[in-house]
Amino acid sequence: PHVAQRILVTGGAGFIGSSFVRHVLDRTDASVTVLDKLTYAASPAALEDLPADRFRLVVGDVADATVVDPLVAEHDVVVHLAAESHNDNALRDPTPFVQTNLVGTFTVLEAVRRHDGRLHHVSSDEVYGDLALDDPERFTEESAYRPGTPYAASKAGSDHLVRAWVRAFGVRATISCCSNNYGPWQHIEKFVPRQVTNVLDGRRPRVYGDGAHVRDWIHTDDHSTALLAILERGRIGETYLVGADGERSNLDVVRTILRLMGRDEADFDLVADRAGHDRRYAIDATRLRDELDWRPSYDDLEAGLARTIDWYRAHADWWRPHKEATEAAYAARGQ
Ligand code: NAD
Ligand code: DAU
Repeated sequence: PHVAQRILVTGGAGFIGSSFVRHVLDRTDASVTVLDKLTYAASPAALEDLPADRFRLVVGDVADATVVDPLVAEHDVVVHLAAESHNDNALRDPTPFVQTNLVGTFTVLEAVRRHDGRLHHVSSDEVYGDLALDDPERFTEESAYRPGTPYAASKAGSDHLVRAWVRAFGVRATISCCSNNYGPWQHIEKFVPRQVTNVLDGRRPRVYGDGAHVRDWIHTDDHSTALLAILERGRIGETYLVGADGERSNLDVVRTILRLMGRDEADFDLVADRAGHDRRYAIDATRLRDELDWRPSYDDLEAGLARTIDWYRAHADWWRPHKEATEAAYAARGQ
């Protein structure tokens, strides 16, 4: 498929960014530059073995205009994923969330404005707040912004900046708001890999509060194909919601993981709840499906989880060095 020739991917060493980079290199003839600060969340190993003539990694801060401006000038499109991404970390210290997610997006927007580039901004369904468990509605592109967590507020603020730059300055940008991703290379601080690696390490999974909270799961491969569809066919100025009809309670997911790993489904602990814990997220992706003809390839969460478990089993060298410290930080808060 045709996409722009030179793509700058911010945050491309992260969980979703590295999947997207591989999709671009596998499915198009575009070249890719990743700009990434290589924070604790980055996985340079996920970018090994990429074709040197089409791929380059630049280590730098997305909030540093002296780095961002010349890179934006050299590329046709910016796909902006660089962010602080974990809610629990924002509750401990929101400072880098405001700096990277807000100032970083502002820095990208100013460079894109100056060089008349095209931007795709990757955002989250959390900007819409949360839904009651029994609410028949799901989020759509028309839902009101109602962020309820420091992380979600930083992402919502970044979306508002993008929209204002489109309207006031004519910047050519699209936005996508995606539901919860799972898959390979996800940091073990996040729900699915935390529980999978707990089981692999002989620990018990840890579920917050009553565990009835619902998330709408999508495999990161499917998020990547959605981003490609938006780059190829998305309408400038539009927002697209990305989701794969994967609503499940946390209890459901943890029991599925335990069963797939040959353990008793009751073999987990309920622990201290997250402050301000959003109850439910749910995406109606009709616009993406109808306008851009996108379909997810994973329609069975259990099969996707089984493959993800196999991946973590095979990549213990990557995650095990970080396990002790990650769990110690949680333990300090009774989680
Ligand atoms: P991640 O934490 O795995 O990766 C983030 C990447 O950004 C890392 O490589 C990190 O080094 C880089 N980064 C952080 N601060 C930076 C800075 N100041 N300058 C340059 N690079 C920096 O995150 P992820 O889960 O891959 O999420 C990627 C994007 O997708 C984020 O914008 C996130 O808000 C959004 N998103 C994530 C999900 C999800 O379920 N994980 C869902 C919807 C949207
Ligand atoms: O909805 C999209 C968002 O999904 C993204 O914007 C975020 O970047 C991404 O981190 C994710 O946010 P969540 O807060 O939903 O993901 P997390 O993996 O942290 O938690 C998923 C659910 O599991 C949530 O209800 C909290 C709960 N949880 C999490 C952890 C780490 C537990 O019960 N136990 C845990 O150990």
